[in-house]
Amino acid sequence: MVPSKAPRHFLTLDDVTRDELSHIIQRAIELKKIQRAGNSPELFKNKVLGMIFEKSSTRTRVSFESGMAQMGGHAIFLSTKDSQLGRGEPVEDAARCIASMVDMVMIRTFEHKTVERFAEYSRVPVINGLSDDHHPCQLLADIQTFVEHRGSLAGKTVAWVGDGNNMCQSYMQAAALCDFQLRIATPKGFEPWDHMLEKCKDRVIIANSPQDAVTGADLIVTDTWASMGQEDEKKQREKIFYGYQVNSELMSHANRDALFMHCLPAYRGKEVSAELMDAPDAVVWEEAENRLHAQKALMEFLFNQ
Ligand code: CP
Ligand code: NVA
Repeated sequence: MVPSKAPRHFLTLDDVTRDELSHIIQRAIELKKIQRAGNSPELFKNKVLGMIFEKSSTRTRVSFESGMAQMGGHAIFLSTKDSQLGRGEPVEDAARCIASMVDMVMIRTFEHKTVERFAEYSRVPVINGLSDDHHPCQLLADIQTFVEHRGSLAGKTVAWVGDGNNMCQSYMQAAALCDFQLRIATPKGFEPWDHMLEKCKDRVIIANSPQDAVTGADLIVTDTWASMGQEDEKKQREKIFYGYQVNSELMSHANRDALFMHCLPAYRGKEVSAELMDAPDAVVWEEAENRLHAQKALMEFLFNQ
């Protein structure tokens, strides 16, 4: 069926209001409880999600695919290797064709512009499953995890230690929507984009050091030092980021009940110590599981627009 109005997309966190975000998070918590109770409402019956992956994935693929299946729908996995996208078909053409056959699209790609171009030509909602600039679905899971453990993020302090990458930039947008202060500790030259820093300057500061960033913080977050597409810089980045590892010693400067999150995959001994991954303040496994629940809530929200 051809939708009569323009679809609602989720390309960055700025695509939802504070109230909508709060609704999605509450619904994610509810859907998790429903699933834990052994129920699976078939709210996506006969719905199909197209999933386009131009980069690797474990959690994003499994959570979207399982989420659709558990809610009575279906997901199609498309990679650039085995679709015409990898052979140079323009994204605008692919968007028009794929969107005419499915009810929603999730895309993981390199340039954020690709997600925007796809959405412009898609007549069904498009979800950004990670671009070089943003990873909004992961933030839904992170926010859900914090809320479940500690309640609202409003008035809290979050420390980002490491690369000023896609995850960091989504945290910057989350700061305004969830009303927290974000302190970013990153080596010189690895800060988030200037235009993002300018836009978020009310809530975001660049700290002088990892210790400055985490002192008194309620949540400490890090991510790989070399994101997908930066494999050639890995060795050089390991040298530059030395000193930015999140470990129990660094966590000891944070508030006593501070949590540690990492979107995963984690590189133990690099951006995070092996011991911290298994420490009680690390909630990384729940954070990963919450991708499933948060994205179900997101898809339901977008289907209902
Ligand atoms: N956190 C996350 O997006 O994981 P994947 O790359 O495995 O999907
Ligand atoms: N910043 C990482 C996140 C992986 C989920 C990357 O883009 O590779």
